[in-house]
Amino acid sequence: MLIRLIYCSRVRPSVSTLDVRSILSVSQRNNAHNGITGGLVFTGGIFLQCLEGHRSAVNETYHRIAADSRHFDPAILSWEEVDSRQFTTWTMGYLGYTGENSSLFLKYAAGKDFDPYACRATAVREMFAEVVANAKMLKQNVD
Ligand SMILES: Cc1cc2nc3c(=O)[nH]c(=O)nc-3n(C[C@H](O)[C@H](O)[C@H](O)COP(=O)(O)O)c2cc1C
Repeated sequence: MLIRLIYCSRVRPSVSTLDVRSILSVSQRNNAHNGITGGLVFTGGIFLQCLEGHRSAVNETYHRIAADSRHFDPAILSWEEVDSRQFTTWTMGYLGYTGENSSLFLKYAAGKDFDPYACRATAVREMFAEVVANAKMLKQNVD
C-alpha cells in the first residue's frame, strides 16, 4: 500500500544551515534504504515535508522524524493512499525560500506569509504537485 503523508513543523531556533544540510543528507541516505521518496520545503522557520512510500515505512519514518529535537509542533496535514508516487526521482528533494520562488509561497499563503499550519490539505497537496512539475525548483543540497 502506497501512502503519501504531508506534515509541517517548526524549527528550533538553535538549528543552523549546517544542521538542515545534515538532515537532508541523512534523509536521502535513509529514504533510499527504506523506499521513501519526497520533498522537504523550508521557509520562515517552518518545515513542510512530503513522504511517499509503503505504509509501514512512511509510518516508521514519520514517527522517527516527529521525535527529532531539531523541530517541534509537528502537524499532519494530509495522509492518503495513492496509486503512484510524485517524487519518482527524489529520495528527498529540497526547496528553500529564495527571492526567485517567492511567488510559489505567496500563491498558497492566506496572508502575506506562507503558513502551512493554516493551509487546507488540498492546498499543500497541490503545492507539492506544482513543485514536482517544476522539478528545477528542487535541489539535492541545501545552498
Ligand atoms: C524536518 C526533518 C525532516 C527529516 N526527514 C527525514 C527523512 O525524510 N528521512 C529520515 O530518515 N530522517 C529524516 N529526518 C531525520 C530523523 O529525524 C533522524 O534524525 C534520522 O532519521 C536518524 O537517522 P540515523 O539513525 O541514520 O542517524 C528528518 C529530521 C527533520 C528535523
